[in-house]
Amino acid sequence: MSEKISIKEIVNAFTPAKEISDAIKFAGRKEYVNDAFYGLLTEGANLAIVGGRGIGKSSLARQIINIAQGDNSLLEKLEIYNDQKLDFLCMYLACGNKIKTVNDLLSRLLTTHSCLLEWIYDIPSANKELSKLRGGLDVKIAELGSEITEETTTTKAIQTHDIDVIFQNVVNEILKAKITKNGILIVIDEFDQIEDPTGFAKLIKSLATNLSGLKFCIVGVAQDIQMLMKEHESTDRLFAGSVINLPGMEKSELNEIIDDAEKSIRKFITFDQTGREKLIELANGHPYIVHLIGNQALRSAYLEPSYEINEEYIIKILRQIAEKEADPVLEGRYKRAVASSYQREAVLKSLFEVIQKDGEILTTDAYKVAIDFDVDNPSQYVGHLVTEDYGAEIVKVRERYYRFRDSLFATYVKARPWLTKKD
Ligand SMILES: Nc1ncnc2c1ncn2[C@@H]1O[C@H](COP(=O)(O)OP(=O)(O)O)[C@@H](O)[C@H]1O
Ligand SMILES: [Mg+2]
Repeated sequence: MSEKISIKEIVNAFTPAKEISDAIKFAGRKEYVNDAFYGLLTEGANLAIVGGRGIGKSSLARQIINIAQGDNSLLEKLEIYNDQKLDFLCMYLACGNKIKTVNDLLSRLLTTHSCLLEWIYDIPSANKELSKLRGGLDVKIAELGSEITEETTTTKAIQTHDIDVIFQNVVNEILKAKITKNGILIVIDEFDQIEDPTGFAKLIKSLATNLSGLKFCIVGVAQDIQMLMKEHESTDRLFAGSVINLPGMEKSELNEIIDDAEKSIRKFITFDQTGREKLIELANGHPYIVHLIGNQALRSAYLEPSYEINEEYIIKILRQIAEKEADPVLEGRYKRAVASSYQREAVLKSLFEVIQKDGEILTTDAYKVAIDFDVDNPSQYVGHLVTEDYGAEIVKVRERYYRFRDSLFATYVKARPWLTKKD
């Protein structure tokens, strides 16, 4: 039993920096995996995953890719009825800040190795299509054998040819080569990063009529698919029945994440009931928070050493997470919003305390809490928090109603120990 666990196993028991690829470590989410599976089976359907930050969108997308490539282990684990192994050619692209338009997106898909480029090499007719982008571009591909990311190349290419036509032809050639039985699945993660996605809805509509066997799965931070695509017209038909609105995880599902982590270190260190409950309460539905805190807690406990983690221990870890800036982005946003003012920090925390079920905050509720913290003029600080100077973490919904822009940040506000002191 007391076989020594390595530090490597400890630091990888929770994975705050990585989405879950392995079905064994993927907790809960049966209903959504089921919806996704049906979306994959439905001819002509595209998939979309929308939801908040840190809620598990990319992890679900990874699972969808596994299933689309014929790995049914998650379906088996979740007892989802299945009678076949799917066989899609899958590609995954996360949009960074460089992809600003749909044309950028298409050229990136065409010229990235892990996306279409790898297949274009092997299929002469597809290669010929790509060469239309610009004389010489294909030579460059052959010569360098590396990804073409130079913006100048891309811009020129777009000027000389219609990239959407080339994209369609290339995909068509690959589909004709029948490399896989079910066609091609293209997962576009962080779709919300695309500044101007105008034309994407139109594009997939036309691809759907001209090509069968191409599926998109678009993934991003948004309230719904319309917002994700910044589309005014209805997109319902394009994503018929296969938009997955990913909510926070249930308590039992978050508990499962802790179980899986304990199992992976053969229960060398465990969480007692109070530690589990605290961790789950703090996470507020966000698996990311469970991984962030769990990871720090295990590292600390391992070094001490300590073999059981309770509520008190978790609270101690929260301070460490803030001090060490374990999540520099969330911590940076927190510091920017507070900007060394006790009063503003008190108002920020008060706003979290009174969030209603629908996410809205009635100012009069928040002011009551803030006054208990001895804040003189809370409305002034709410005024600050909506401005860009303080990170615009709070959004005005309508007269007297506000909400947090991002529920992951709101969760951090709740969990983070006070930064300032009342003077
Ligand atoms: N179903 C799940 N089971 C266990 N951990 C999960 C699950 N979904 C997400 N996570 C974890 O939560 C964190 C955030 O997940 P991620 O998929 O990156 O979210 P998003 O893409 O929505 O920001 C990661 O640390 C990931 O490992
Ligand atoms: Mg993600």
